[in-house]
Amino acid sequence: MTKSLSELRSRRWFADTGMRGFAHRQRIQQMGLRREDVLDRPIVAVINTWSDLSPCHAHLRERAESVKRGVLMAGGYPFELPAMSLGEVMVKPTTMLYRNFLAMEVEELLRSLPVDGAVLLAGCDKTTPGTLMGAISMGLPTIFCPAGPMLNDRHVSGGRSQTVGAGTHTRMFWDEKQAGRVDEAEWIALESRMTRSPGTCNTMGTASTMTSMTEALGLALPGSTSIPAMDAAHSRMATGTGEAIVRMIRDDLTPQRILTRGAFMNAVAVQMALGGSTNAAVHVIALARRAGVPLTLDDLDAVGRRLPVLANLFPSGDRLMEDFHYAGGLPALMNVIRDELSLGEMTVTGRSVGENIEGLTVRDPEVIRPLDRPVSSGGALAVLRGNLAPNGAVMKPSAASAKFLRHRGRALVFDSQPEMQAAMNDPDLDVDENTVLVLRNAGPVGAPGMPEWGNLPIPKKLLERGVRDMVRLSDARMSGTHYGSCVLHISPEAAVGGPLALVRTGDVIELDVAARLLALVVDDAELMARHAHWKPPAQPYARGYARLYTQHVTQAHEGCDFDFLEGTAPTPEPPIF
Ligand code: FES
Repeated sequence: MTKSLSELRSRRWFADTGMRGFAHRQRIQQMGLRREDVLDRPIVAVINTWSDLSPCHAHLRERAESVKRGVLMAGGYPFELPAMSLGEVMVKPTTMLYRNFLAMEVEELLRSLPVDGAVLLAGCDKTTPGTLMGAISMGLPTIFCPAGPMLNDRHVSGGRSQTVGAGTHTRMFWDEKQAGRVDEAEWIALESRMTRSPGTCNTMGTASTMTSMTEALGLALPGSTSIPAMDAAHSRMATGTGEAIVRMIRDDLTPQRILTRGAFMNAVAVQMALGGSTNAAVHVIALARRAGVPLTLDDLDAVGRRLPVLANLFPSGDRLMEDFHYAGGLPALMNVIRDELSLGEMTVTGRSVGENIEGLTVRDPEVIRPLDRPVSSGGALAVLRGNLAPNGAVMKPSAASAKFLRHRGRALVFDSQPEMQAAMNDPDLDVDENTVLVLRNAGPVGAPGMPEWGNLPIPKKLLERGVRDMVRLSDARMSGTHYGSCVLHISPEAAVGGPLALVRTGDVIELDVAARLLALVVDDAELMARHAHWKPPAQPYARGYARLYTQHVTQAHEGCDFDFLEGTAPTPEPPIF
């Protein structure tokens, strides 16, 4: 399928013979371009999520130049368009509050401007799904250019040198500090460790999970996602991405032609084999619903039951993304699980998944394990249900303690994050290692924005006794770089009246991961009586974007998109007057 130049969308602006067309060409020349630069050439939007306060994207200004070089060499013309930059750590209250904002921005940027296709420059957690959701809804040919992981780092202390990775080790060292095993001087020294260079988190956190799933979907060049951000190969990959988008525009290779159910199931298989972030459950469902592809938590659970974790990466394993790259990266991993994949799916290369990965094999079997020697057979994701989570909850068994995969314990309930934080240092807190910590009102509506509060801290008095894991429940999310026996995304959430709202301190909670069960051991009559007295928590936002968010966000099992953005209903092109 080849698109002629006269069919380019941008020609509606630039080839118009009336006064408007004159004005569009005039304004192009005002910027120093020639009229022939935009006539008869595909126009490429280079959507850039760079900002001075987004460390994971600090290099994307330079990478945009590499992308542009590729576009020009292939005969297109690039325009760089800045989009909301969501640096995971700096943005408060949570980047998840703004994922849909970014998606709306990208969709409307593409719709309102004279462009024929898009390169998405992103990588930090929400920027990948956010940019993709918008681009999918707009439907122009689109390719993703991943920011790439930061470089490996090591920390030396007490004569011992250890590999340290972003996020995972922050939490580990924090717990050791709370337990009195890391002093203030080492804590300060650690500030300059773990995050050694620009680039996304180098553990298998949400960033690497989502960029890898994007590659598996067929929306990024094969092997692109694991290239370290500071490797010269990253710049070459960006140039290749710029060349590819021009081909895609000419071939009219739109997301609709790439994003089939088979493509989504490939992405889910990759998530499981990587030991990917639980956050992926929310994002991949949101992406599928934008593409009009049916995908549910049960689909994810079914793959999670079959596929073990093969990538030896923190937090499930003990290596980092740079090691994964040297071991062969995603194409090598996909070859190991090729029997699980739909190899005929189309990709941005114009070739199938199977053709893209052919002959690309594992170079280090310690990092990318064979199927008969997995890192964990516990699975990267389990979907739990029961009277406490009628619509589902998720857990990452591969990052949990085996002893807690089947557990009954007494609940200790917190209604808010500040209440929980205040209690954690209390030496008189009525808690032991078998207690189930519960945090509620931290979901999509309750927080709002479903922040990463789900990795509830271990109470200080237990840390001092050597406890490092407990069963923890919430309607929040958890950083993909973190670990522990945390049940997350409980749906429906407490703030909309889900059963989580009815739990009381002292109730018994039953968790059985093998049976996929999460139950509150309280009889139905008692729960109905409690529900009759339940009142929704007050909403702090009377105006603004957060108000729009709380009114329209869907629940975790539905992807947390806005109800008015889901689906594939056509949106008219803007009139050119
Ligand atoms: Fe940006 Fe982890 S904070 S990728």
